[in-house]
Amino acid sequence: MTSSTLLTPGSVRPGFNTVLWISLGLTALFVFITSEVLLVTDYPMYHAYRLRVIADQQILVPHTLCGVIALLAGPVQFSSRFRHRHPKFHRVLGRSYVISVFIGALTGIALAAGRPGMPGTCVQAAAWIVCTSAAFITARNRQIARHRQWMVRSYAVTFTFVSSRVLNLWPLYWSHLGDTLAAVGLVVFTFASLLVVEVGLNWRELTNRPA
Ligand code: HEM
Repeated sequence: MTSSTLLTPGSVRPGFNTVLWISLGLTALFVFITSEVLLVTDYPMYHAYRLRVIADQQILVPHTLCGVIALLAGPVQFSSRFRHRHPKFHRVLGRSYVISVFIGALTGIALAAGRPGMPGTCVQAAAWIVCTSAAFITARNRQIARHRQWMVRSYAVTFTFVSSRVLNLWPLYWSHLGDTLAAVGLVVFTFASLLVVEVGLNWRELTNRPA
């Protein structure tokens, strides 16, 4: 497949991009309120998990900081208007994104160490690092179309932080999903996100019949 035939985020209709980013933003806000705010205010269903989070706070602080940088950098970096107007800032924020992903992934593994969820977290962290490294290498090699595609894959893994928490408030999901199933769930969320991205990136080829 040549890079000219590959669908890039820039080639998608602007209306689609706006709807996509608004949906992702609203989902992130929903998760922030139903998972993070309720965790801070000691919502009874999250109490046991809250104690674990408090015990892990030394690793959790850098992990969360880096995760938030990665999560917020996405919408800025994907904006073609912003990239064209501020190419230097795009490079600086891009490097910060890469560093944040590496620290976020390694601290994520440290958080999971010794717990049943460790294999799932390792798969998620590996996917995060591989996609982000590929995005960095293609940017360095000036393969811009491929760089954008790897960034979409990388951001899809970043966004699993949100997608894997959407159902948290549903007691059946939260309390029956023991540690082992949660680890399997993480792998499923990671690969499902990457599959959705692949379909999106290849949409034109999948839907166009050769003349
Ligand atoms: C947008 C990126 C991310 C942000 C902002 C973020 C932030 C957080 C926060 C705030 C927590 C504690 C509260 C909670 O669970 O909701 C947490 C826990 C955790 N995160 Fe992340 N994270 C991100 C991505 C990741 C990724 C990609 C991994 C996998 C490498 C990961 C691994 C973990 C682990 C293992 C825990 C502890 C879970 C437990 O104790 O059961 N995080 N993260």
